Amino acid sequence: MTGSPKFCSLFSGCGGFDLGFVNAGYECIGAYDIDLKALNVHEHNLGGSVFNCDLTTSDFPISNLCTADIILSGSPCQGFSTIGKRKINDPRNNLLLTGGELAIKSKTKVFISENVLGVIAGRHRKYWDELHQMFRTAGYKTTDIKCNGTEVGIAQRRRRLFLLAWSFPKEINVSIKSTPGGTLKDALEGVESTKNHTVIPLKKDSIDYLISKRIKAGQKLSNVRGGYRSVHTWDIPEVYGQTTNKERMALETILRVRRQMRVRNFGDADPVPKTFLYKNFGEKIINSLVKKGYLRCSSNAFDLTKTFNGKYRRLPWDKPSYTIDTRFGNPKYFLHPEEHRGFTVREAARIQGFPDSFIFSGTQIEQYRMIGNAVPPPMAEHLASFVREAFFK
Ligand SMILES: C[S@@+](CC[C@H](N)C(=O)[O-])C[C@H]1O[C@@H](n2cnc3c(N)ncnc32)[C@H](O)[C@@H]1O
Repeated sequence: MTGSPKFCSLFSGCGGFDLGFVNAGYECIGAYDIDLKALNVHEHNLGGSVFNCDLTTSDFPISNLCTADIILSGSPCQGFSTIGKRKINDPRNNLLLTGGELAIKSKTKVFISENVLGVIAGRHRKYWDELHQMFRTAGYKTTDIKCNGTEVGIAQRRRRLFLLAWSFPKEINVSIKSTPGGTLKDALEGVESTKNHTVIPLKKDSIDYLISKRIKAGQKLSNVRGGYRSVHTWDIPEVYGQTTNKERMALETILRVRRQMRVRNFGDADPVPKTFLYKNFGEKIINSLVKKGYLRCSSNAFDLTKTFNGKYRRLPWDKPSYTIDTRFGNPKYFLHPEEHRGFTVREAARIQGFPDSFIFSGTQIEQYRMIGNAVPPPMAEHLASFVREAFFK
């Protein structure tokens, strides 16, 4: 093929997916999204045509789609993600198919859709299977490609699934180049002097600050796991209230046995029977823990309160980051390795592999949302290079 392959991007967001393709030598001829703020960032950094539209309507120009060699689709993942409610009929799930329908209607040569791995788990798989089927019925070949951020040049454990469909009568062997992603320290080197790096320290009299002071790198606040990595609410008496040695023994025991003495066949823990607790610790201690807010009573059993698994995760310098999501700037979820604060927009962008020249705008919440939603540009670039080699040499 002579010249750069042209692509359009559906559900383009701020353009993480698109930047990877541009960096691999493709030309973006149209980005479509309902979010104007994200499109402003796209336009500022990537130039080109952006279309602010609802892709479930037919109220947008389709001519660019028809002249593209490739259509990218980054439809929302919230309905499929295992950290969400995973409602099978979440209306956002259908947008996965909307992307495919538009691409087939435009007779694209190549189509790529990205999503979280939850899209092939359990009953939700029907959407992904339908997307494959839709392309196969239209005469395309299809395959899945799995990527992890740590293997495509970013310091982040981020596993993502791509559906690749192509109209060429050609078999392909998927092989994505591997590039080590390094550690959080590598990713944040020299970040101090960049744009979008506004550090907001936690206020010294705040609860978040007191909790942050108790959490070391590699640890998180969690009442439902033991071991060094979990700090429990009863380890932070200045926030959650004093306990006696005996009360802490009771809490540590409940933490263990609630996962061992199972009575239900769902969830991963159960309240602990009153008889067991009264026998081992006495009624007075258990009732005192209820009064102090550490336990709650449910019929003839007691369970811990605050059973979330992992808030205030303090990332260690020497490992790749956890998966960045739209909450990444919130210190209640993620803490900087050594400072009492969350991550800045630029730090989040660095961990996603955006270059420092890529400038974000909008409110802080909007910026974290765009970044958390994005396909990491280096992941997209690895994929784009493979696709170019396979179809557009
Ligand atoms: C996962 S994000 C896309 C991220 C993007 N692919 C990237 O790499 O930066 C999903 C996007 O779908 C957009 N969206 C949701 N519903 C839409 C609709 N009905 N029409 C157009 N865009 C929509 C959201 O505004 C959001 O930007």
